[in-house]
Amino acid sequence: MTPRFYFATCQFGAEKTVKDEVLRAHPSLRFAFSRPGFMTFKEESDETPPIDNPESIFTRVWGISVGQGKGANPLEALQPLIPSGSTLHAFERDAFLPGDEPEGFVANQRILNLMAAAGWKGADRVASVGEWIFDLIYLDEGHVFLGKHLFQEGMDPSPGNQPHISLPATSPSRAYLKLEEAIHRFKPECKSGTRVLEVGCAPGGASTAMLSRGFKVTGVDPKRVDPSVHQNPGFQFIQKTAKTLTREDLKTVNPEWLVLDMNLAPLEALDEVHHVLDLLRSIHGAKLSLNQGFLTLKLNDWKFAGSIPLYLKRVSELGFRDLAAVQLCSNRQEFFVYAGGFR
Ligand SMILES: C[S@@+](CC[C@H](N)C(=O)[O-])C[C@H]1O[C@@H](n2cnc3c(N)ncnc32)[C@H](O)[C@@H]1O
Repeated sequence: MTPRFYFATCQFGAEKTVKDEVLRAHPSLRFAFSRPGFMTFKEESDETPPIDNPESIFTRVWGISVGQGKGANPLEALQPLIPSGSTLHAFERDAFLPGDEPEGFVANQRILNLMAAAGWKGADRVASVGEWIFDLIYLDEGHVFLGKHLFQEGMDPSPGNQPHISLPATSPSRAYLKLEEAIHRFKPECKSGTRVLEVGCAPGGASTAMLSRGFKVTGVDPKRVDPSVHQNPGFQFIQKTAKTLTREDLKTVNPEWLVLDMNLAPLEALDEVHHVLDLLRSIHGAKLSLNQGFLTLKLNDWKFAGSIPLYLKRVSELGFRDLAAVQLCSNRQEFFVYAGGFR
C-alpha cells in the first residue's frame, strides 16, 4: 500500500477555499504541503482508482504527483520520469492576483528559461480528451514539481488550463477578459446582433468585448461608462441601479443574454437581478428571449465561498438552467456562473 499524492493549482489567494472544497468532497484525503497558488493532498493508498474530479470550483488543474526536482538544476531528476512522446505543459504557480502583475511580467518565463537552459522543448502538440498530460510546475527558485493530469472536456489545452486572451488597449476595464474567457470556455453561439442586458456595466470592458462581436448591448449602472462604449451605436445606457429600474426603462429591452457583474455581495446582487427578471417577465411574458446567463459573483470576503451552494440555488430559483460554476483565470476574488438556459 503506497500513498498517492495529488496536486491542485488555483488562483493566488484561493488556497484555503480549494482546501475546504476538496476535503469536503473527499474526506479521506489529507492536506499536505502547499505554496500560494499550489497545494498537495495525500491519499493513504494508491490501490483505489485515482480521483480525477476534485469537485472544486476554484481548482484549475488537478492531478497526480509524479516527482519534485530541487537544487541548482531541478529538471535533472525529473526528465527520466516523463515518458517519451508525452504532452508536457510547463507553467508557474500563480504569484499575483490577476491584474496585480508587475510591469513587464511575462507568464511562465522562469520555467521556460530553465527548460531552454536544459535544452528541453515546450509542448509541441495539442492534448486530446482522455490523455494524461505531464505538468512541469515552477514553484520557487530551485524547486520544480512534476505532476500529471487527465485532459478532460472543457479544459483549455494551454499549460495550466489558462487560455491566452489579451486585453486590448481600447478596453476600459479588465472585465473584457472575463467575458471573453467565459465565451472561450463555454462556447455559446455568438451571432452578430445578439441582444444583451448587462447589469453593472461601467466602465465597459465586457461591453467592449460584446460590441466588438456585433452584439446589441443595453448597459445598466449608476456610474458612467467610457465614452468609447457610450458612443457606440450598438450600446444603450440606462444610468441607474438595477433595483430602481422600471417597466418603462426596459419596455423595449428583450435580451437573449443577461450579463451580471455588480460589486455587491452575491445575495444582494441576485436580489437586484430578481427585480430585473420580474420586470422582463411582466413586459414580455412568454415572448421573453432570455436564454443564457453570464454571472460574476463577488466574494467580498473569502468566507462567502462556503455559501456558494446557496448562491447557486438562488441562481436556479431565478430561472437559470444548466449551471456551470468556475473561477475563471481572469476572475479576482469572485467566481463565475455560466447558465446555458433560462426558463
Ligand atoms: C466590477 S464593476 C463592473 C465592470 C464592468 N462589467 C465592465 O465590464 O467594465 C462593478 C459595477 O457594478 C456597479 N454597481 C454597483 N451596484 C449596482 C447596482 N445596484 N446596480 C447596477 N450596477 C451596480 C458599479 O457601479 C460598478 O460599475
